[in-house]
Amino acid sequence: MAATTETATATRPDTAWRDEIRRLAAERDAVLLAHNYQLPEIQEVADHTGDSLALSRIAAESEASVIVFCGVHFMAETAKILSPDKTVLIPDARAGCSLADSIDGAQLRDWKAEHPDAVVVSYVNTTAEVKAETDICCTSSNAVDVVRSIPAEREVLFCPDQFLGAHVKRETGRENLHVWAGECHVHAGINGPELAERAASVPDADLFIHPECGCATSALYLAGAGTVPAEKVKILSTGDMVTAARETEASSVLVATEIGMLHQLRKAAPEIDFQAVNERASCRYMKMITADALLRCLRDGTDEVRVDAATAQRARDAVRRMIAIGQPGGGE
Ligand code: 13P
Ligand code: SF4
Repeated sequence: MAATTETATATRPDTAWRDEIRRLAAERDAVLLAHNYQLPEIQEVADHTGDSLALSRIAAESEASVIVFCGVHFMAETAKILSPDKTVLIPDARAGCSLADSIDGAQLRDWKAEHPDAVVVSYVNTTAEVKAETDICCTSSNAVDVVRSIPAEREVLFCPDQFLGAHVKRETGRENLHVWAGECHVHAGINGPELAERAASVPDADLFIHPECGCATSALYLAGAGTVPAEKVKILSTGDMVTAARETEASSVLVATEIGMLHQLRKAAPEIDFQAVNERASCRYMKMITADALLRCLRDGTDEVRVDAATAQRARDAVRRMIAIGQPGGGE
């Protein structure tokens, strides 16, 4: 393993690095959680890799005294909200999220004032301040179930992702669901024309589409128009993609989400040719969690994630409702 030096030589994620990470994790009584978009070496060294919902559930149930969240800041914050007495670390606190930045607490309060009787459903990709203003959080794997759990006559405010919101509206057929116009810059950039072109070039492929994608509506249009057989178009959370990879009989799959996902898919079904719809769809925040950053985190106990007690208390019920609803998220 190359030592971290003053000149910021990158640590090689070799066996010595891996052994040191595992030794330090044991010494700190830490559980290492990695999102499906993390670099392959981070996914491999973690105790659990999965989607947002699965990792939230694991964080809530873990007996470890320290949770190291290899993901982005809102994920680590969610773990802290659920386990206020635990130490929650993220290897680089600058790992933000453009989607979480698309609504803040004041904006949500103003929106609620316009719809005082509405139930607020917020995607887990939000800050603790927004969660504190929320009735039920959701992730991509249980958003439809969460909205279905709300009495049909109640208005719903859904934030912040417009593409996931459109998916939920389509699935539930709910007219009284208002959607905030936020988006993730990575997923919004995976667009319909690109998907149509790729689908035409690999005609037998299944399409695995994350509902945050700009192309989700186009995928359903391709299915509706008969361009792609409807059963080949699957709108899935990242964890559900891994399950679908194990179940499909297709020999090729086009994947519309952040490219880190390909690692778990190829592990789950090595015989399938998985191709990214957009190979440039890389989240720079997720990739801030490097081999160096994780080593520093475990050695120095940084960066610690804190959520002020009053905000965490207000956010906790919304997050607990999220982890109680729907199928288990996908994760090992
Ligand atoms: P899921 O893992 O819940 O599908 O979320 C994807 C995502 O974009 C997280 O930032
Ligand atoms: Fe946020 Fe998009 Fe990155 Fe996911 S991929 S963490 S939604 S910026």
